[in-house]
Amino acid sequence: MEILVLSGSPKGDLSVTLQYVAYLAKKIPAHKFSVVHVAQQCRQLENDPAAFAAVVDRVRRADAVLWAFPLYYLLVHGSYKRFIELIGERGAQDAFRGKYAASLSTSIRFFDHTAHNYINAVADDLEMRYFGRYSAKMNDLFDPAERARLLAFTENFLAAAAHGHPTARAYRPLDPVARRYTPGPAAAPVDTGGKKVLIVSDAGPDQPNLTAMVARLAAAFRGPVETINLGDLDIKGGCLGCCRCSYDNTCVYQGKDGFNAFYDEKVRPADIVVYAGAIRDRYLSSRWKTYFDRTFFNNHVSTLSGKQFAFLVSGPLAQNANLRQILEAYGEFQQTGFLGIVTDEGSSPETDALLDRLAAAAVEQSARGYLPPPSFLGVAGRKLFRDEIWARMRFPFVADHRYYQANGYYDFPQREWGVRLRTLFMYWLAHIPAVRKEIYGPRMTEHMVAPLRKLVAKL
Ligand SMILES: Cc1cc2nc3c(=O)[nH]c(=O)nc-3n(C[C@H](O)[C@H](O)[C@H](O)COP(=O)(O)O)c2cc1C
Repeated sequence: MEILVLSGSPKGDLSVTLQYVAYLAKKIPAHKFSVVHVAQQCRQLENDPAAFAAVVDRVRRADAVLWAFPLYYLLVHGSYKRFIELIGERGAQDAFRGKYAASLSTSIRFFDHTAHNYINAVADDLEMRYFGRYSAKMNDLFDPAERARLLAFTENFLAAAAHGHPTARAYRPLDPVARRYTPGPAAAPVDTGGKKVLIVSDAGPDQPNLTAMVARLAAAFRGPVETINLGDLDIKGGCLGCCRCSYDNTCVYQGKDGFNAFYDEKVRPADIVVYAGAIRDRYLSSRWKTYFDRTFFNNHVSTLSGKQFAFLVSGPLAQNANLRQILEAYGEFQQTGFLGIVTDEGSSPETDALLDRLAAAAVEQSARGYLPPPSFLGVAGRKLFRDEIWARMRFPFVADHRYYQANGYYDFPQREWGVRLRTLFMYWLAHIPAVRKEIYGPRMTEHMVAPLRKLVAKL
C-alpha cells in the first residue's frame, strides 16, 4: 500500500515528527510511505493551482493518509490549517472521501488531545475513515517500548486499511449559523474609567455578523477602544518553529515585519483584550492560527496574565465543544480574568445583551482586579510547563527558566515541608490498628470537614 503522509511541520525534512515517520518506513518496508510537506510548502500550494492539484492527485491515488504534525498552540500549525482550508475552498474533498486516515503528532503533550480532536473532525467532515490517533512525546523515539508501541499502532492502522475494518464517526457535520445579527443601539455604554480596551478581529467583508459584533462591543464602552483587524497587520509569515526566540524572546522576524512591535505596543499595555473570529472548518481562521503561533516568541510565559479577556465568535460554537475547550483553555493558561465567549447563535437582542454585559463585566472586574481560579485546564497546563522547563527544556528555553525562577513558577510540592511532614506523620499513624479504626471509621467525613469548620468559625 502507499501511505501518503501529509506533513504539518514548517521545518520540512528537519521535522521531529518526520523522524517518527522515517522510523516507520524503515520498519515496515512492505508499504510505501511518501511525504508531502503541505505546511512548509503551503504558500506555494496556495499560489500555484497546479502544485495544489498535484497534491490532491497524490491523495486520490494513495491507499491511506497519515496526518503527521507537530502540536502548535493546542492545534496544528497555521499553514497546515491553511492547507485544510484550501481543500474546502478548492472543492478537493472527493479525493479524501472514503480513505483510511490516522493522525500522528509529536509534542510535549500540552493539549495534544484538542489537536487530534480537530484532525479527527476534519477527517470526519471529509468523510474519511478515521482509524485513530497517536500522540508521541518528542523524544519517545529513543525509548524501545515507545517504538514498539508506535509500530503496533501503525500496523493496526495498515491492517484496518487493508481489510476495510469499520471505523466510527466521532463528529457530526456542523450546521452553520444562518441568522443575521442586526445590532440595536448601545443604550448605556460603560465608562472605561481609563482602562485600555483592545479588540483584535479578523472580520472580513464576508463576515457581516462578526463585523457587527465587533462594532457593537466597541460601542458598549464609553472611552477609547482600539479595534485592530488582523488583515491590516504586517505579518510576513508563520512561525518557523526555529526556536531562536528561546534564549531571550527575540523572534527571527523581529524588525522584518510588524507583528512583534504590534504585540509589544498594543497587546501588552491593554487592560481589556477581546479576540474576535469566525469559525472556519473546526477552528477559527488560519490567519488567527498564525497569530497565535507567532506569539510563541514569548515562549511559555503568559503575556495576557492579569488582563480581562474574552472571545467573540461568529459561528456554531455550541456544536463545537473542542473549539470551546481550546478557547477556554487559552483564557485559563494565559492566567487572564476570562470573561467567556459571546457568539451570534442567539437572537440579535440576546447578543446585544451579552455584549453589553461583557463590556460592563470587563470594566468592573478590571477595576476589582478579579481573576477566576483556574480549573484543570489551567492547573494541569501550568504544572506540565513547570516540570518541562525545569527539567528537559531549561535548555534551549533559557528565557522561560529565568522567568519561572523569578516569578515563583517552580512551586514543586517537594518544597512544602509543613504539608509533607504532616502527611508523613499521618501516613505512619494510619498503620496503627487502633488509630486506623478511628480515622477510617464512621467519623471519617467528620474528620475531613473539622478543620474547615474551625476555620469558618474563626473567620
Ligand atoms: C510555536 C510553537 C507552538 C507549540 N505548541 C505546542 C503545544 O501547544 N503543545 C505541545 O505539546 N507542544 C507544542 N509545541 C512543541 C512542538 O509540537 C514539538 O516541538 C514538536 O515535536 C515539533 O515537531 P516538528 O519538528 O515536526 O515540527 C510548540 C512548538 C512551537 C514552536
